[in-house]
Amino acid sequence: MNVGLKTPILPAGEPAAAAAAHSLGEGGLVAFPTETVYGLGADATNPAAIARLYQAKGRPAFNPLIAHVGDISAARQIARFDDAAMALAEAFWPGPLTLVLPKTEGCAVAELATAGLDTVAIRIPAHPVARDILRLFGRPVAAPSANLSGHVSPTTAAHVESDLSGRIDLIVDGGAVAVGVESTIVGCFDQPMLLRPGGLARTEIERVLGRALLQPPVDADSDSGQPLAPGMLASHYAPRARVRLHADRIEPGEALLAFGLGAISGIDAASAVMNLSARGDLAEAAANLFGFLRALDAKGVRTIAVMPIPDEGLGEAINDRLRRAAVGRE
Ligand code: TXA
Ligand code: MG
Repeated sequence: MNVGLKTPILPAGEPAAAAAAHSLGEGGLVAFPTETVYGLGADATNPAAIARLYQAKGRPAFNPLIAHVGDISAARQIARFDDAAMALAEAFWPGPLTLVLPKTEGCAVAELATAGLDTVAIRIPAHPVARDILRLFGRPVAAPSANLSGHVSPTTAAHVESDLSGRIDLIVDGGAVAVGVESTIVGCFDQPMLLRPGGLARTEIERVLGRALLQPPVDADSDSGQPLAPGMLASHYAPRARVRLHADRIEPGEALLAFGLGAISGIDAASAVMNLSARGDLAEAAANLFGFLRALDAKGVRTIAVMPIPDEGLGEAINDRLRRAAVGRE
């Protein structure tokens, strides 16, 4: 394994998919694009590989992982689907939705990957490169976002390289991702619950369910207590810069993360300006979000002032990630 050396980067294609599947089979760690963000994959059934994955990310081992599979029959081998779960799977898979479901008796996913829970998070990604790798590998792939724990999720292979080169075995470069924020996570408990807003808007899910998603209890969001989606630590999506939300003016020297074409005072004194979407398109803003946070960080700015972003559609996920980026820094 390549730990300590620079990690090889292969352009997406058949040889890369074959190399990825081979490496996963040997317990390797492979970063690959999904439509949401780049994932860092390991064989979900191999506890040693999962242990290395937690180590490479510097991730607390109590934070369980999403098992990625190629099709619904593979998903049904590891989890039990009730009617609501089946309806969501049929409507939105492959795609940016993760379902948290009870494990089956014979669930092959390692205990370490589910952090000892009796539920498992599952997703069928839509990205062709992810799908090729899953098909060739044939077993579930545990894949958190391919960043160091606590950093902003990667939306390009270069982001993965800057966080993880030398710590993982292979990076498959499939270009910039389309969605740009992580999958929406729904817990299929007695009543379906929105555990994490993400790349699939809440309203689309609610339309299929025919009812509103429950909200998790408030402390599911905090660093203390026992969160329902344990990874939803309050401060998680963290650039180095301080993040100031709902800015209606720019203080001298601050960087501006803009949205739309609304006017904002003090912009002449801004140290940098990036617009998530000048035309006010939330999908475009989601796709740009993490890359722009990294780019502003790379300029060494001290504070990023963020203009208000509407809390509808994908705006719910964007505002969630921005709030997390701001925690402890406001
Ligand atoms: O878009 C995505 O979901 C990306 C790509 C790579 O698929 N993956 C991703 O994984 O964002 P990660 O590990 O960064 O986030 C997974 C989240 C964490 O908040 C974790 O706590 C939660 O899913 N999770 C995993 N298993 C769970 C379970 N059994 N119950 C509740 N939450 C769970
Ligand atoms: Mg993550």
